Amino acid sequence: MIEWNDSLLVGFEPIDAEHKALVRLVGELYRRLKNGDDRALVEDALFEVADHVAAHFNQENDLMARSGYAGRADHLFEHRVLIDQLDSVLDRVDMIPDEWLLQALGFVERWFVDHVHDADAKLGAHLVAWTSPGR
Ligand SMILES: [Fe+2]
Ligand SMILES: [Fe+2]
Repeated sequence: MIEWNDSLLVGFEPIDAEHKALVRLVGELYRRLKNGDDRALVEDALFEVADHVAAHFNQENDLMARSGYAGRADHLFEHRVLIDQLDSVLDRVDMIPDEWLLQALGFVERWFVDHVHDADAKLGAHLVAWTSPGR
């Protein structure tokens, strides 16, 4: 299961705060699945993760647009991959057993760590430079 560690910091505080919140929400979903909690509780946590992901991607997209980020199209494509994966789960969540949800969560975690270490780290460095005085 994913846990926060500072290798995930990208150095731009608003994004780091959202990533930390996302790790917490994914952790909660993981715990509910592992505990065998009521399906309604599992799905509540899943929808919270999906909502947070969508809001966070909008936040990054807005920052990329406002700062004129050159890597925006590639970055948005990576986001699209995760959104498609989440949508395919959410569309038929009532037919998906907990075990499959755990596997999907594993995909989300690997995607997140890879994406943060590469794409978001580059974006973070760009945003730090963009917001620094005297740029
Ligand atoms: Fe991000
Ligand atoms: Fe991103």
